[in-house]
Amino acid sequence: MSAFPPRTYLASAAFGLEGVAAGELRRMGIPAKAEQGGARFEAAPADAFRANLWLRTADRVLLVLAEQTVASFEDLYQLVSSIPWENLLPKDAAFPVTGKCVRSRLMSVRDCQAVSKKAICNRLQGRYHLERLPETGAAYPIDVAIHKDLARITLDMSGEALNRRGYRTWNGEAPLRETLAAALVDLSPWRVGMPLADPCCGTGTLLIEAAMKAARRAPGLTRSFACESFAFMPAGEMKALRQQAQEAYAPQAAMDILGSDIDPQALTLCEKHVRQAGFEGRITARRLDLRELQLQKPQGVFLTNPPYGERLGDKASCQALYRDLGALLRRHPGWRMGIIVSDPAFERFFGRRATQKRRLYNGRLECEFMIF
Ligand SMILES: C[S@@+](CC[C@H](N)C(=O)[O-])C[C@H]1O[C@@H](n2cnc3c(N)ncnc32)[C@H](O)[C@@H]1O
Repeated sequence: MSAFPPRTYLASAAFGLEGVAAGELRRMGIPAKAEQGGARFEAAPADAFRANLWLRTADRVLLVLAEQTVASFEDLYQLVSSIPWENLLPKDAAFPVTGKCVRSRLMSVRDCQAVSKKAICNRLQGRYHLERLPETGAAYPIDVAIHKDLARITLDMSGEALNRRGYRTWNGEAPLRETLAAALVDLSPWRVGMPLADPCCGTGTLLIEAAMKAARRAPGLTRSFACESFAFMPAGEMKALRQQAQEAYAPQAAMDILGSDIDPQALTLCEKHVRQAGFEGRITARRLDLRELQLQKPQGVFLTNPPYGERLGDKASCQALYRDLGALLRRHPGWRMGIIVSDPAFERFFGRRATQKRRLYNGRLECEFMIF
C-alpha cells in the first residue's frame, strides 16, 4: 500500500452482476473493470462514498488494502502486519474482522480472523504505545478473504450491505434481493418513461427499484455508511455529495409503474414497502390473477419474478403459470417481457423462445433472465 489513502476499491457484486455493477460505476464517471466477485475501480475517497450512495446493483464497497498469496498463518500475519493501519485507524477504533476461505491451504476462517486481528493489534499497540486498544470508537470493519490461496484484506466502506435501502422491513416468502431487482431493471428493455408492469409483484421490489431509477433517487439516500465515521474520509465532500443526491431526487417525476399479485398478504407488504420507499400514490398495486390482467396501454414492459416451484408452490402449478404468462404476453402484442426463472424448460411452457438470456443467481438458485 504505497499511496495514502489507498485508491483501489472493489464494489462486490453477486455472481453474474459484476459487469452490471462495473457499468453503473462507468456511468457515474468512475472507470471500472468487472472481475470475479465484483467491479474494481481506482478512486479518491469522495468517489468511494459516491459509489456507496448511488450503486444499485453492488453489495458493498471495499477498500483494498493488500492482496498476496499466503501459504501459512505466518504469511497471513506478515501480510496483515505490513499494512500501515495507524494511517487508517485512530487509537480508539473498533475493528471487527470477518473472514472467508475458499479452496485454500488456510481453511479455518476462525484462525484466519484471529491471526489477522492479532497482527493489527500488535501493529497499532506498537505505533500508539498502548498496552490495550480500547476499541470504543467508530467501527472499521475489516475483511480477510482467501480464495485459492490469494488473500485480500479490505476495509468495508459500506457497513450494512448496500441492498439495505431502508424500505423493506419484512421479507415475505420469496422476495428478490434489492440489488438483483435493480439489475433486472437495468438489463430489461424498460427505460424511464415507459409503462412497467409486474404481474407477480409480491412485496414490490422490482416496482420500487424501477421507481427509484425513474425518480433519480440515490438508493443510499436515507441510510448511513460505515465510511462516514472514518477519520480519513473527507466529511465536507461527503456532506456535499449527500446534498447533491438530495437535490437530484425528483419524487414527482413522471412514472407509469403498476404491480399486481394474487396474494393479498404479499400486496399488504407491497403497499407498506411502497409507502416506506416514499412512492405512495406513484406506484399502483392491486390484487389480480395474472390470467385476468389486461392493460390498455399499447406498449410497455412486463418485468417479473414468478414462483419457481423450488421455493413457492409446486412445479406443476408453476408450469401452468408459465403458460399463463405466455398467454399474457400474447394478449399484449406491443409489450415486451423480462422474466427471471430457474426452470430450464421455461420457454417450452411459455410457448416462445427468448430473444436474450443471461445466467444469474437468485440467492443460491441458478436462474436465467430471459427477454421476450
Ligand atoms: C417469487 S414471488 C415474487 C416476489 C417479488 N419479486 C418480491 O420481491 O417480493 C412470486 C409471486 O407470484 C404471485 N403469483 C402466483 N400466482 C399468481 C397468479 N396467478 N397471478 C398473480 N400473481 C401470482 C405469488 O403470490 C408471489 O407473490
